[in-house]
Amino acid sequence: MKIEDLPLPEGVKAVISSSDISSLYPPQEDAIKAGALDGENLVLASPTASGKTLIAELCAMKHILEGGGKVLYLTPLRALTSEKYEDFKKYTAVRKGDGQRIQVAISTGDYDGSDPWLGKYDVIITTNEKCDSLLRHRPNWIRDVTLLVADEVHTLLDRDRGPTLEVTLTRLRETNPQAQILALSATIKNADEIADWLGATSITTDWRPVKLVEGVYLDGECQFNSGDAIRVRDENGNPAINFALHTLRSGGQALIFANTRRRAVAYAKRAGNAVKKILSKPESRTLKTIADQLSRTGERTRLSDLLANLVEQGVAFHHAGLAASHRKIVEDSFRRGRLKIVSATPTLASGVNLPARTVIVSDTRRYNPGYGLYDISVLEYKQMAGRAGRPRYDKIGEAVLISRTEDEQDYLMERYVFSEPERIWSKLAVEKTLRSHVLATVASGFTHTEEGLLDFFRKTFYAQQFDSDPIDELVSTVLEYLFVEGMLTVDGRHLEATRFGRRVSELYIDPVSGVIIRDGLENRPRHITDVSLLQLVCHTPDVVPKYYPRRREIEGLNAFVELHSDEFFFPTPGDDDFVEFESFLGEVKCVCVLDAWIQEVSEEGLIERFSVQPGDLFRLIRSVDWLLHATRDLTRLFGHKDLLQRLSALQLRVKSGIKENLVPLVALEGVGRVRGRILFNAGLRTLDDLKKASLTQLTTLPLIGPQVARRIKEQVGGFIKTEELDAFRQGEEWQQKVLSDFEGG
Ligand SMILES: Nc1ncnc2c1ncn2[C@@H]1O[C@H](COP(=O)(O)OP(=O)(O)OP(=O)(O)O)[C@@H](O)[C@H]1O
Ligand SMILES: [Mg+2]
Repeated sequence: MKIEDLPLPEGVKAVISSSDISSLYPPQEDAIKAGALDGENLVLASPTASGKTLIAELCAMKHILEGGGKVLYLTPLRALTSEKYEDFKKYTAVRKGDGQRIQVAISTGDYDGSDPWLGKYDVIITTNEKCDSLLRHRPNWIRDVTLLVADEVHTLLDRDRGPTLEVTLTRLRETNPQAQILALSATIKNADEIADWLGATSITTDWRPVKLVEGVYLDGECQFNSGDAIRVRDENGNPAINFALHTLRSGGQALIFANTRRRAVAYAKRAGNAVKKILSKPESRTLKTIADQLSRTGERTRLSDLLANLVEQGVAFHHAGLAASHRKIVEDSFRRGRLKIVSATPTLASGVNLPARTVIVSDTRRYNPGYGLYDISVLEYKQMAGRAGRPRYDKIGEAVLISRTEDEQDYLMERYVFSEPERIWSKLAVEKTLRSHVLATVASGFTHTEEGLLDFFRKTFYAQQFDSDPIDELVSTVLEYLFVEGMLTVDGRHLEATRFGRRVSELYIDPVSGVIIRDGLENRPRHITDVSLLQLVCHTPDVVPKYYPRRREIEGLNAFVELHSDEFFFPTPGDDDFVEFESFLGEVKCVCVLDAWIQEVSEEGLIERFSVQPGDLFRLIRSVDWLLHATRDLTRLFGHKDLLQRLSALQLRVKSGIKENLVPLVALEGVGRVRGRILFNAGLRTLDDLKKASLTQLTTLPLIGPQVARRIKEQVGGFIKTEELDAFRQGEEWQQKVLSDFEGG
């Protein structure tokens, strides 16, 4: 089916054609035939790279332009949200009936609000968690949603993220029963079952636009499921890298999946040595520019230095320890063909479009603390494999598993290459998970009776798949907990959330965190310091990541405990219960890291002292920032107003990683911990000092260029001489030119 024959406005077809798409892929055609554009609910289960997003785009245009509706697009990951945002942004060129352009928004930020500003957007792209939090505030604009897209719906299987998606979908089906649902999924065994649950038709295909062959490598040879085999030269001693180099020699790019961060780095290091020898001069020059850009972005650490060094050699690693800005540079450079080999942890496996001709899965075992080594699922393997051979980039894709023995080769062939992905099982029936969802259902006024609650949970995928008895029982247990902890009141059959319950639900924290904070505030230590408050929030289950103290850190942590024990909310447990003691020290480690961070220890210093990498630090800061916000809120509720100011200052310091005296300066846009400290040390300590400073005085300082200097002056006000401003304008033009030359190169 040609794009021009689609029953859609010309403007939409023009946008699609301009992105080089002239006809639909067969699975896309199937979806249209099954009524995708006529409001039918569909579950589309098709292989990776088969173009599921475009179907959602077409449907979205239909809803917006013909029905005047609104589209909500859910994804499981922030990174995927950005990619989908890019996909949809092209439609902002299209005008609606009222002459206004289509507007697309991305919403992943704070969890405590209904974000009324979203009301004016036609497409809202968000994560499942953010959507769950939005629904708790019952924003008015939800009523206008007429199309709901659930991308990567197989996420239902995920222990952590699945239940949120399940509850969110159940809830949206209640609030917007007329809305069309489009659920997009990888190939799975029970798409029908998910379709039954959603009142949808399932369409399953195994068509893929780019052929993907899968095979297992052993001793210099790879056997593919197509029956072919190829020999690979041993030029490196490492099978994964031998294979990647093989791809590179025939003009392709390779992606190696490693099961740990350390391995991902090791692969890149090893590959770098081999790749740099075969780079052309222009390639090396471009890579040098990218490496320089990387070094200039964010704080310099040994991790970013190492990465920049490898990038210069045409390779890179990619894992959650890297700062988001660095991960993006790696993804973009790989996409543009600059980087030849990237080794990544499986965080890169879901939904993203990367031009890898070859994907190498170096190990199918994964370590899980507490469980030990386990085999990854077929679904996870197929997701990784599916990054190979994406349309536009390659004619064929290949996915290769590495084996060490013949037995292992047979095993991998059977277990992964020739297997179908598993069934999706609901992970909802866990008390810990249900607490927050049961509370939200009452607190947001979706129901006020126990029967209402049971009814709601009987509409979940869990109840459809199993039986509703276990979930009924769990709901009752959870209700009792919420009642005992004062989050709900019961009057005959009527359930009502208390103010405490409502705030906990809206703040999007685990009810257990709410209880810990409330009780902590009641029994506080005599002497409350920043360390006390950090310990309070680090004790809650919402803080991520969780740390396990390393052996060499224990002495230092004990010394910290000794020094601060009278400031602690929670005393040191006896060391007879090892698990409890270890988790206590893990929390203390979080406190130590944050304390060092707000003492302005550099990111490099944090890596050295605690092995905490920038990406993890960022996640820790984000969750603690949120919990400090929540604590502040609850402090007001429970009448501990004396702590409000301290909490506000601490929250700002955690957010920016600064000592107290930088608080006024970092309030300015463009000024963070590093520039703030530079200004402060130069004697510019207050906004008033900055008001009096000249532009020239500012730009003589390191890291403060003409643009930043001007932004600062604009914010603080003050007088700028005309000649000075003219001179700076010229300086800015010059800088713009350098930047655009760089971007173009
Ligand atoms: N009809 C088409 N013609 C040409 N290219 C297309 C067509 N439809 C989609 N594409 C391109 O195919 C690529 C893969 O599409 P998409 O990301 O939607 O795949 P997907 O099915 O969602 O895969 P995954 O399961 O990995 O998320 C995109 O680059 C997209 O632009
Ligand atoms: Mg997709």
